[in-house]
Amino acid sequence: MPRPIQAFVHTDALRHNLHRLRSAAPDARVWAVVKANAYGHGIERVFEGLRAADGFALLDLDEALRLRALGWRGPVWLLEGVFEARDLEVCSRLDLWHTVHCDEQIDMLSRHKTQVPHRIFLKMNSGMNRLGFTPTRFRSAWTRLNQLPQVDEISLVTHFSDADGDKGVAEQMALFTRTTEDLPGERTTCNSAGLLRYASAPPVAADWVRPGIALYGSAPDFPQHDIAHWQLKPTLSLRSQVIAVQELQAGDTVGYGSTFVAERAMRIGIVACGYADGYPRHCATGTTVLVNGVRTRTVGRVSMDMLAVDLTPVPNAGFGAEVTLWGRAATGEVLPIDEVAHAAGTVGYELMCAVSARVGFTQD
Ligand SMILES: Cc1ncc(COP(=O)(O)O)c(C=O)c1O
Repeated sequence: MPRPIQAFVHTDALRHNLHRLRSAAPDARVWAVVKANAYGHGIERVFEGLRAADGFALLDLDEALRLRALGWRGPVWLLEGVFEARDLEVCSRLDLWHTVHCDEQIDMLSRHKTQVPHRIFLKMNSGMNRLGFTPTRFRSAWTRLNQLPQVDEISLVTHFSDADGDKGVAEQMALFTRTTEDLPGERTTCNSAGLLRYASAPPVAADWVRPGIALYGSAPDFPQHDIAHWQLKPTLSLRSQVIAVQELQAGDTVGYGSTFVAERAMRIGIVACGYADGYPRHCATGTTVLVNGVRTRTVGRVSMDMLAVDLTPVPNAGFGAEVTLWGRAATGEVLPIDEVAHAAGTVGYELMCAVSARVGFTQD
């Protein structure tokens, strides 16, 4: 009998979120971003829920191969482009669209032998300062690319650094628009935050949008807004069970370091979930969990394989009670992953990607 911890990937929620995001920019086509193994969900497990997307965007050739193996014949985009020359052979073979963000990638393309020219996304660095040509170098990169017989259509892309924050996208958007004004080709600028917060103001949405995190039921700008505000549903639920109950007296402590001291007599449940499952150790006493769908809190430190929860609000809960660490309980009650991430000082992205290999996944 395996430990009772399980992760659930909800196909209905993926479909719902994709539909919701499409409606935020109805004239744009949607790239479903499935990098990092679909933000930890598993490419194969999200495919059904996201197959109504117009394309899939990712980083790894191996993940692109898995998408093709699932029967996806539509666009697949390598967001960081190729890392070495022989990757271009795979692009030709699998018909992958790829980003060009530096001179070295243009050099590789110029030496590549291909029957069919490649579809390129030329990336502009409009302020993020990770990947892309600066505005002063962007046009010459475009001209150089445009002269290559290996290159088919060139689309234009930039990435916002502050779509989720106070600074917003106006400055980067203006720079991108100005720099690319008289260049042909499709445009794409928006991640989830850009799409939800700014896509209603043209020309931000452009021809393609490329949401990731919002597809997976996490609010890109939490705690300013939550998933209820954005009408998104959790797509990943981490659930386990109470495997022991302790009756505490006032003054009793819980777990390593005795960081929690009971103020009065209380019942606590010991849950089969710890940091080795991907639950963050940084979650201090008071982090929300659902027991049988009822909101309660963790008490004491998270250990490798276990954590403790306060059973006061759920007096009937005992051995075997369902514990939802994040996501949707069997009752339908929701604990957004963002709340748990926030309690750990991080973001939903990190928690999704960190569910460990020893946790079994079920797609429903
Ligand atoms: C270039 C690019 N586009 C889109 C996304 C999706 O971003 P998000 O998950 O915030 O929607 C990412 C993710 O980091 C990205 O790097």
